[in-house]
Amino acid sequence: MPGEMSHLKLPALPDRESNMGKTHKIAVLGGDGTGPEVVAEGKKVLQAAASKFDFKLDMTDFDFGGDRYLRTGEVLPASAIEDLKQFDAIYLGAIGHPDVKPGILEKGILLYIRFELDQYINLRPVRLYPGVDTPLKGKTPEHIDYVVVRENSGGIYTGTGGISMKGTPHEVAVQSMVYNRFQVERCLRYAFDYARKHGKKARGKGDVNTLGLVGKTNVLTYVFDLWERAFHEVGAKDYADVNREYYHVDATCMWMVKSPEWFDVLVTSNMFGDIITDLGAETQGGMGIAAGGNINPDGVSMFEPIGGSAPKYTGQNIINPLAAICAGAMMLETLGEETAAEAIESAVMEVTGTKIKSLSAGRMGYSTSEVGDLVAERV
Ligand code: IPM
Ligand code: MN
Repeated sequence: MPGEMSHLKLPALPDRESNMGKTHKIAVLGGDGTGPEVVAEGKKVLQAAASKFDFKLDMTDFDFGGDRYLRTGEVLPASAIEDLKQFDAIYLGAIGHPDVKPGILEKGILLYIRFELDQYINLRPVRLYPGVDTPLKGKTPEHIDYVVVRENSGGIYTGTGGISMKGTPHEVAVQSMVYNRFQVERCLRYAFDYARKHGKKARGKGDVNTLGLVGKTNVLTYVFDLWERAFHEVGAKDYADVNREYYHVDATCMWMVKSPEWFDVLVTSNMFGDIITDLGAETQGGMGIAAGGNINPDGVSMFEPIGGSAPKYTGQNIINPLAAICAGAMMLETLGEETAAEAIESAVMEVTGTKIKSLSAGRMGYSTSEVGDLVAERV
């Protein structure tokens, strides 16, 4: 143990070795609908990776979600955030229940955890795996391979606003897009670092790492003026090696369909990131495969498949667990288990490339648990 032997002044161990045998404490929030089913397959794959790569996962289940809310009348227990802070990461299935009015669980659980734990980055890779059908004609895995860094703590999603004269013909509703320099700058710095480390040059897929800012400077002349100035100031000063591009969000949607190969790493505001990543997910084969991480680089991060709870498929063992499995791989990467994360991603690619017929629920050619087995066996 380095602690016990510190008087010997041994040199610091390299990262990889200091992780050997390490235990990561994971809070598991299966949530609603098919969430628990996909998370169960994710856990199976994560445990297979843990035993192969010599680390341990200590997982604790929480019952947060629609059923608990309907039973208790409480969206989250008062201790939830303090409890979650005791873990190294959170693994989430899905939030959204057909018997609960839209917004209650989404705002009260998902957004609340993101904000309270200051998970200010939402990292959403858009990657087409081998053997997966894309609706983009003629595009292959080389063309669809970029990452969206969505700001996840501010903007128009924080609930600043209100309604007055409700129910009258003169009713007024306001919802404000508010950003401060601090929020914008920390997001941009994360995105520049990410582009430097994982951009196309870093991955041997191009001769430059590019960060593209997605905004709307031609209309939202206050908020995106701030974003654009911060982008160029921070970039010129501290990330001169990263190429900077700017794209309007509407044009970005067009190019995501027409020429996704132009993109490398994109950074954008909360709302634009929410919208463009659903489009991105569809181009990579749909919600069955798209994963994301809600990241606080200095705190507790939460990983989730980005699709919803798909209540109509609940309990049928037909939902695709690959997005949850990929979210688990992202979680391991953030916990410093990069080799295990890569092994899971390769196993997923082998399964999409050689086994699964379609990524859609009920059309995979395998059940949910069989897909979990196929990946776990290959890790
Ligand atoms: C997402 C979802 C959430 C969001 C909703 C459910 C609050 O659409 O994770 O993209 O808007 O962030
Ligand atoms: Mn969304």
